[in-house]
Amino acid sequence: MEIRGIDYGKLFLAPMAGVCDVGFREQAVKFGADVTVTEMLSARAMAHNPKKTMNMIVTSPLEKVVVAQVFGHEEEYIKRAIESDMLKKFTSFDINMGCPAPKIVKNGEGGALMGDIKTARKIIEECRKATDKPLSVKFRKGYKTENYLDFGRMCEDAGADYVTFHARTVEQGYSGQADYEAIANLKAKLKIKVVGNGDVVDEKSYAQMLATGVDAVMIGRGALGQPWIFAKLKGKSIEGVDKYEVVAQHIQALREHYDEGWIKLYIRKHLLWYTKGLSLSAKLRNTLATCEDIDMCLELLKDAFIDENCFV
Ligand SMILES: Cc1cc2nc3c(=O)[nH]c(=O)nc-3n(C[C@H](O)[C@H](O)[C@H](O)COP(=O)(O)O)c2cc1C
Repeated sequence: MEIRGIDYGKLFLAPMAGVCDVGFREQAVKFGADVTVTEMLSARAMAHNPKKTMNMIVTSPLEKVVVAQVFGHEEEYIKRAIESDMLKKFTSFDINMGCPAPKIVKNGEGGALMGDIKTARKIIEECRKATDKPLSVKFRKGYKTENYLDFGRMCEDAGADYVTFHARTVEQGYSGQADYEAIANLKAKLKIKVVGNGDVVDEKSYAQMLATGVDAVMIGRGALGQPWIFAKLKGKSIEGVDKYEVVAQHIQALREHYDEGWIKLYIRKHLLWYTKGLSLSAKLRNTLATCEDIDMCLELLKDAFIDENCFV
C-alpha cells in the first residue's frame, strides 16, 4: 500500500496500549511487520505532561514506517500534538476514533467520536491543515448506531489518506467476531485505502481478511507472544527461530530505555504470552507471572523452551 509516496507494505502491527513497547515492535518488524504504531498518546497529556508521553514514543531504528497514534476530542490539542517536535520523527499520524475503554468514551474521545461526526470531522480537517505527512483514522463499526460507511466517507472527505477499520462496534469491545462483510463493504465504497483489522490470527483468517479486498491488514492480539506471525503470513519459513532469543532481545531493547523496576512489572504479561501453550509447572508459571528477577526468568525460560523443544 502506497500513501503519499511512502510504501506502507501489507502488514501492520496494531497499536496496543500497555503492550506494544519498542522491544515488542522491534521483534514484529524483524519478522516482517511493515508498519508499527505507537500505543495511543493523549493529546492533552502531551501538552501538559510531555515527560510521560516521552516514555511512550521511544522507537527503534529498525522501524521503517512508524505511526504515532493520538487521541483526544479537542482539535486544538490534537493538532498541536501532531505539529510538536516530539512527534517529528514519525512517518505519519493516526487519530484514534475507535477506543471502547469507558474512561476514554466518557470523555467524548476514541469510539465516542463515531457518535459525534461533526467533532470528528473538525479534528481531521484541522490535522489535515497541520501536516503534509500521511494522516489516517482508526475506527470501528459504530457507536450506538452502525454508521461506518458514513463515517468512512467523512474521513475521506475531511482529508484522511487511509482508514483502519476494526469491524466491531464500540459497545462490542472485543466480544463476538469482527464483521468481514462490513470490511468488504467499506472497502468497496471508499476511494482512499482501507486497512482491515480484527481477528487475524493465522493464515486462514489472513486469507479471509485479504478476500475483503483491503489494501493492508493490521494484526493485534494474534501477534501476542508470537511476533513471528508476520513471517508466517508472508510465507517465510520460521524454522530454527529461537523463542528464547526473541524474548531476550525484547527485554534487552527495554533495558536500553527503561529502568529495571518498571520492566519487571511490565514484562510479566509478555512472559505469559510467550509461554502460552507450554506445559509449565504451576511454580514456574507463577515465577514468570510475578517476575521478581528478570535474568532468573530468562534462565528458566531458556530451559522451558529447550525442554519443550520449542523452536517454532
Ligand atoms: C491490550 C489492547 C490495547 C489496545 N490499545 C489500542 C490503542 O492504543 N489504540 C488503538 O487504536 N487500538 C487499540 N487496541 C485495539 C487493537 O489495535 C485492534 O484494533 C484490536 O485488538 C482488534 O484487532 P485484533 O483482533 O487483531 O486484536 C488495543 C487492543 C488491545 C487488546
